[in-house]
Amino acid sequence: MSIHFYEPRHGHGLPHDPFNAIVGPRPIGWISSLSQAEVPNLAPYSFFNAFNYVPPIVGFASIGEKDTLRNVRASGEFVWNLATGALAEAMNITCAAVAPEIDEFALAGLTRAPSRLVRAPRVAESPVAFECRVTQIVQLQRADGQAVPTWLVLGEVVGVHIAQASLKDGIYDTAAAGHILRAGGPADYFSVGPEQLFRMFRPRPASTPD
Ligand SMILES: Cc1cc2nc3c(=O)[nH]c(=O)nc-3n(C[C@H](O)[C@H](O)[C@H](O)COP(=O)(O)O)c2cc1C
Repeated sequence: MSIHFYEPRHGHGLPHDPFNAIVGPRPIGWISSLSQAEVPNLAPYSFFNAFNYVPPIVGFASIGEKDTLRNVRASGEFVWNLATGALAEAMNITCAAVAPEIDEFALAGLTRAPSRLVRAPRVAESPVAFECRVTQIVQLQRADGQAVPTWLVLGEVVGVHIAQASLKDGIYDTAAAGHILRAGGPADYFSVGPEQLFRMFRPRPASTPD
């Protein structure tokens, strides 16, 4: 097998950096928060994932100081909203680099629904939302210890909203919910449906969820 090898610190030597396309498709952290001036904020973060099961902890990385980071630092709270195919265009609009006094819910024609345990609103049109309390904000660093201007925000999920329509006999139906995922390049996304589902059980009894 002929291999293209590169050291990222010296460049990738390709027309586009393949990193995002390789670590993908990624779930999208569509994060709502509230500023100190009480302005709602909503933005997508695809450097996002789940990191623990009990208690559930999710995290996203802010590459640079952004409104969401400032809001979650000040309030200690955020909401994760599920991005679906039906909400793709609206999600994309909310990534606009606008002033902190602009409410991206209004910009994207979305409805703010009140959360129950945190003050940040959730996206009413989204079938799933996690209300989160910030647990850690970690500034990333290079292997040599040099600080990187990226902050990983981790939050415990303290409240979960699931549209009843996404539950089939009480089981959450990932394929039916129409999740969208971010891949590489300037515009690549994937969606998942029943045709992508396959099942494989562990060879020994499971002690953790995956
Ligand atoms: C699908 C998608 C994923 C994104 N992922 C990230 C990310 O992981 N980290 C980041 O800093 N910006 C990411 N961005 C860009 C932010 O959404 C953008 O900078 C936005 O203006 C930040 O909003 P805020 O200042 O209101 O927090 C992403 C944009 C899109 C469309």
